[in-house]
Amino acid sequence: MAKVKIKFACTECGTESPKWLGKCPGCGEWNTMVEEKETVVKTAGVGLSAPMSRGTKEKPRSIIDINTGQEPRIESSIGELNRVLGGGVVPGSLILVGGDPGIGKSTLLLQASHALASAGLKVLYISGEESVRQTKLRADRLGALAESLYVLCETNMEHINEAIESVGPDFLVIDSIQTVYDPGVQSAPGSVAQVRECTAHFMRKSKIDGIATVLVGHVTKEGAIAGPRLLEHMVDCVLYFEGERHHSYRLLRAVKNRFGSTNEIGIFEMGEDGLREVANPSELFLSERPLGVSGSTVVASMEGTRPVLVELQALVAPTHFPSPRRMSTGFDHHRMALIIAVLEKRIGLFLQTQDAYLNAAGGVRLDEPAVDLAAAVALASSFKDAPTKPDDVIFGEVGLTGEVRAVSRAEQRVKEAQKLGFKRVILPEKSLKGWKPPDDIKIVGVNTVAEALRAAL
Ligand code: TYD
Ligand code: MG
Repeated sequence: MAKVKIKFACTECGTESPKWLGKCPGCGEWNTMVEEKETVVKTAGVGLSAPMSRGTKEKPRSIIDINTGQEPRIESSIGELNRVLGGGVVPGSLILVGGDPGIGKSTLLLQASHALASAGLKVLYISGEESVRQTKLRADRLGALAESLYVLCETNMEHINEAIESVGPDFLVIDSIQTVYDPGVQSAPGSVAQVRECTAHFMRKSKIDGIATVLVGHVTKEGAIAGPRLLEHMVDCVLYFEGERHHSYRLLRAVKNRFGSTNEIGIFEMGEDGLREVANPSELFLSERPLGVSGSTVVASMEGTRPVLVELQALVAPTHFPSPRRMSTGFDHHRMALIIAVLEKRIGLFLQTQDAYLNAAGGVRLDEPAVDLAAAVALASSFKDAPTKPDDVIFGEVGLTGEVRAVSRAEQRVKEAQKLGFKRVILPEKSLKGWKPPDDIKIVGVNTVAEALRAAL
């Protein structure tokens, strides 16, 4: 029997060390070394050293001679998924989908598998967590049965390889990467070494055979995908599936995409029969909005290429602490601090003795500067206890002198507000150049936060 040795590996960069270290010598991060059983390879198994291409040596070519054409895409019938992937699945790409347990990753991928199988592709869905019977029961409930959707319950990399060879899929799902193991690597499934080795293998496989592969990844308590951070560098796309346990909607977000933008979000709703696409996200994010109260504003934020209206809520209340609390959900707290400072200094609101909370409804993350002005109005509205007008939409970037700066795509944002029946938009005056606002919505161009507050409250 092989001797089992203990070693330590960094979860960020994969650096190995024979003893535990507080600071990783490879990437300089602290507290990232975890204990592992020694990786005694390589009699069997697939190994890291296998070549990337099938033996044919490629010569360097002039960049001009390389024929690219249009990146071919496999479009599924799930539009929200296509959107996040940048237009569809790219053959030969490796996609990592992370998310909390029970959020709906398996459901989403089974539905995607079905959608692609129905479109005529060969799909192989390998689950290391559920038996084929369980998968079938779930597929039954989702109405996700198709002739060319193959399922397998397997965790051994060698057997998975054989299955891939025998089915020859166009689309492959591994649910999840933490459950598969390469028998040639003697550490436990889910360990840094196993996850790294198996991912490297799927990467080669997808590139060589042109199989679009999705790896499902568990997330740690901190919300990062478990396993080496390296994993995220190896794959082409990293998607996170998020949502609040108590709400039925789910957001699919790209944090890395070699074939498209990373700002796009896909919005789904979990129901009895699986995930449904949400066609009109603005309606969803405004559905529980109280009208005519203080501290509530509606902002038009660009989520990738589409404008989405989101309710932004603020609560400002006297503090009982020496230093007041500032908390935000779905809003960058550095920007919140900046906006509070601008309200203090430029508008003269005495916020030093006040706790302030800011919350973007619906679990959306508002991270573009265009949401500043709505946050400023919400905070001021709550502080003064002055209700905002329910028919207003507000957007604009706030500068340190209290000026309101231009933002991109004002026209699209205004159109979205108009579509949802809002009567008035407060926006940067400088964003009004070069386009004509629609007639049936009132436009208020402002240059300073003070002007915006006069108009809104
Ligand atoms: P699942 O896809 O198993 O999550 P993950 O793979 O991310 O762990 O989703 C599990 C949850 O989704 C479970 O709590 C039940 C719920 N669900 C529905 O509400 N409707 C459905 O049709 C399905 C299949 C699951
Ligand atoms: Mg699952």
